[in-house]
Amino acid sequence: MPSLTLAPARSISGALSVPGDKSISHRYAILAALADGTSQINNFSPADDCFRTLRCLSRLGVSVGTVTMTTPDQQPLTSPTVTITGRGLDSVRRPAGFFSRPLDCGNSGTTLRLLAGLLSGQSFDTSLTGDASLRRRPMRRVIDPLSQMGARIHARNGDLAPLKIRGSRLHAIDYTLPIPSAQVKSAILLAALYADGITSVNEPLRSRDHTELALAEFGCRLERSGSTIRLPGRSNNSTPRLRFRTLSVPGDLSSAVYFIAAALILPDSNLLLGNVGLNPTRAAVLDFLASMGAIISLVSVQQKHGELVGDIAVRHSQLEGGIVSGPAVAQLIDELPMLAALGPYTEKGIEIREAQELRVKESDRIAALANNLRRMGAVVEEFPDGLRVAGRSASGAHSPLHGAEIDPAGDHRIAMAFSVAALAASSPTIIRDSACVAVSYPDFFSVLEHHLDR
Ligand code: S3P
Repeated sequence: MPSLTLAPARSISGALSVPGDKSISHRYAILAALADGTSQINNFSPADDCFRTLRCLSRLGVSVGTVTMTTPDQQPLTSPTVTITGRGLDSVRRPAGFFSRPLDCGNSGTTLRLLAGLLSGQSFDTSLTGDASLRRRPMRRVIDPLSQMGARIHARNGDLAPLKIRGSRLHAIDYTLPIPSAQVKSAILLAALYADGITSVNEPLRSRDHTELALAEFGCRLERSGSTIRLPGRSNNSTPRLRFRTLSVPGDLSSAVYFIAAALILPDSNLLLGNVGLNPTRAAVLDFLASMGAIISLVSVQQKHGELVGDIAVRHSQLEGGIVSGPAVAQLIDELPMLAALGPYTEKGIEIREAQELRVKESDRIAALANNLRRMGAVVEEFPDGLRVAGRSASGAHSPLHGAEIDPAGDHRIAMAFSVAALAASSPTIIRDSACVAVSYPDFFSVLEHHLDR
């Protein structure tokens, strides 16, 4: 796999837009497949993960079309428009060639866990798998609640993909999430559409709520009161019906964060990120950065399809450092790699605790962060549930990091976090297997290069 060398940069500036949000794109695609009629999804994420969802839906017999839109001067826009034609809740069919080929979710945990919910309530059997990383990730967290609803799922060692799912008649449950996970919550809500009765999901710690907002947008009658969501499934006289929609996906804040971090640490930087999703269950990273002294402002914030969207202006700032633990972990889960890699550039460093979930992401992110930060000369203490990265005050060196060869362990967010850390290091950095960024952001390096000043 190709390596990429990143030289230090002086600043990052200009205006840019990041691709459509990955989490929202998965959900709009799946719900469009279950709606009556043809939905159009603009600014769909170009992430490999989201294309896995589209390919699985297509293998399940749903009609999916992708159009690459162009700018007035005929340049391709990176986020395509997708059209999906559903035929209601019974749109999906047994995949052709089922016995020889399971549905391949690639690196995408969201695809596999959400589809496990959707497929549990069908009248046919399916099998879901993924790449080596996904086949190591825990699935019991979805198997348990879905089994309580009547699903029959067979997993390797009871926990790992491939999952063999026997289509079953489901019934509603009242479920309290033992860990905050939007993927688990969403798997249950998708299964609930097919279940007899009213399913309720209680989440003591709030996770991202795109599924709830998207279900409401597609016309589903669900209710939220306090920390509980209730979704009416099938009953004697009705089945849930979703309406086709024309929707536009906001830019992905979890991708924007790499550019925000680059602007914060490179002197003279001044960056404007347009049309970024600012859903409160995702935007905690902006509050956390601001609490450390980051100069960030939000401009023209508005609501689109229930989601908050706006522009983000960011300038070079002195960062104090800080601690992430407790409920903040779930709110910052995908941004923790970038925050940890910013640690050496803050005054007092960054500490992340109670974040053992990071060990079961696309890689063991605690180990990958500690290993690569040390390669760049950072002082790091690793704990079972997190890490402490020393800041400038502890190092005393003129430049807190030097260049190194980074091993992202196949993990897109580790590769992007260290690409940003590399820009303010004292010498060039090599990112091994740099193509892994395509899992969420195929054009990351070209957009980054375009806005750097060396
Ligand atoms: C996601 C939920 C989070 C997040 C992942 C995307 C989603 O995972 O880390 O990148 O789209 O629902 P968990 O549900 O495991 O917390």
